[in-house]
Amino acid sequence: MDIFHIEGPVRLSGSVKINGSKNASLPIMAASILAKGKSVLSSVPHLSDISVCGQLLGQLGCTVDRSPNDNLCIDATVIDNPVGEYEIVRRMRASICILGPLLARCGRAEVSMPGGCAIGDRPIDIHVRGLRELGAKIHLKNGYIIAEAPKGLKGKAIFLGGAFGSTVLGTANVLMAATLAKGKTVIESAACEPEITDLANCLNKMGAKITGIGSPRLSVEGVRELQPVEYKVIPDRIEAGTFMVAAAITSGELHLHNCRLDDMMAVVDKFRNVGVTIDAAGDGCVVTRRKPIKTADITTQPYPGFPTDLQAQFMALLSLARGNSVIIEKIFPDRFMHVAELNRMAANLRKEGPAVIVAGVKKLIAAPVMASDLRASAALVLAGMAAEGTTIVNRVYHIDRGYEKIEERLNPVGANITRQGI
Ligand code: EPU
Repeated sequence: MDIFHIEGPVRLSGSVKINGSKNASLPIMAASILAKGKSVLSSVPHLSDISVCGQLLGQLGCTVDRSPNDNLCIDATVIDNPVGEYEIVRRMRASICILGPLLARCGRAEVSMPGGCAIGDRPIDIHVRGLRELGAKIHLKNGYIIAEAPKGLKGKAIFLGGAFGSTVLGTANVLMAATLAKGKTVIESAACEPEITDLANCLNKMGAKITGIGSPRLSVEGVRELQPVEYKVIPDRIEAGTFMVAAAITSGELHLHNCRLDDMMAVVDKFRNVGVTIDAAGDGCVVTRRKPIKTADITTQPYPGFPTDLQAQFMALLSLARGNSVIIEKIFPDRFMHVAELNRMAANLRKEGPAVIVAGVKKLIAAPVMASDLRASAALVLAGMAAEGTTIVNRVYHIDRGYEKIEERLNPVGANITRQGI
């Protein structure tokens, strides 16, 4: 298990290229199951979650490899084992997004039921409800979801909202299944995240007939079959937001390439409110912080609201604001594992139910801290770059799930992070 030694404080300056989106790549990889033949995906990042997804598709019968020019090639000509094994699903919850496409392609799927994780219970009841509405028979056996539709799925109008709003991977599952269902499906209260838009655009390129893309009402005319695809994945808005915080928390200036501000309006708005300058430039933007950080109140929401996946990183930034901020988590009310760790670094955070009161401090002080999940660990790295002294972040594998070699991208722009294997 690797650890990071982070020397601080540093001031970042320079250019960083944002990679393709992890959370768009994963469902698009699953979508490749829907077509016999070889799909070629570009801009898929090199992350452990992507490797796990590749292994999962390999177990189903697909061949998955990287071409010399780094495209991810998935040959789904043969799917002879429509089973998502526990050993893989327990390593990555997003494995659940093979359920819909497998069912549509094979008429049957068995996928291990994902457990909870550090950010909460994370049920999949809405995925199951949506697929049942399309005519699937679904039951649970020995920890596996067994889904069957031997005569195919049938389109229907479905309300897919839940207690916490829309579901991203639930929408992905039902949308993928609906592309091959007989007749018309309407998904009401669909997730509008850019990753779902990217998936829908990819599906349409494969021959699906989806309209309403980007809205909470997706309409799908089922087709008999889909074709393999060549598709480029969108830039990762969460990685971009994390690097924006990196510039801001270190009073630095970063030019981010391959970054779509249009996908990040709520985030950009918050940065501007707290005194961080973000100017569009070329294929990305320049992020600069010259003034003290101002306070802000943040409530996480489904897109186009402020994303839960940037809540921890913003908490690190607001720890250094002049005054009190309030952060309310409306997607995963328990996603606060970073609070105690940031407090170990002299932040002043108080959790009150699904909210955290952030009392700004003058400086953060380095400490040994424990990464608990992907975005929480990103927050600790950000805090470490601003803190005085040597911060040690344990369990770096969490960060490797979603950020490709983060230290090799931060060090050239002024960070001082050393990875040590232990
Ligand atoms: N929910 C239910 N029932 C369901 C599904 C979801 O109650 O059947 C609830 C969840 O518990 C949560 C809310 O609905 O309260 C939204 O969860 P959602 O289903 O949208 O989350 P997800 O699809 O499992 C994706 C991302 C997460 C991101 C969330 C929210 C991927 C692979 N994962 O998860 O990303 O936080 O959407 O935007 O796309 C990350 O990258 O660090 C990460 C956790």
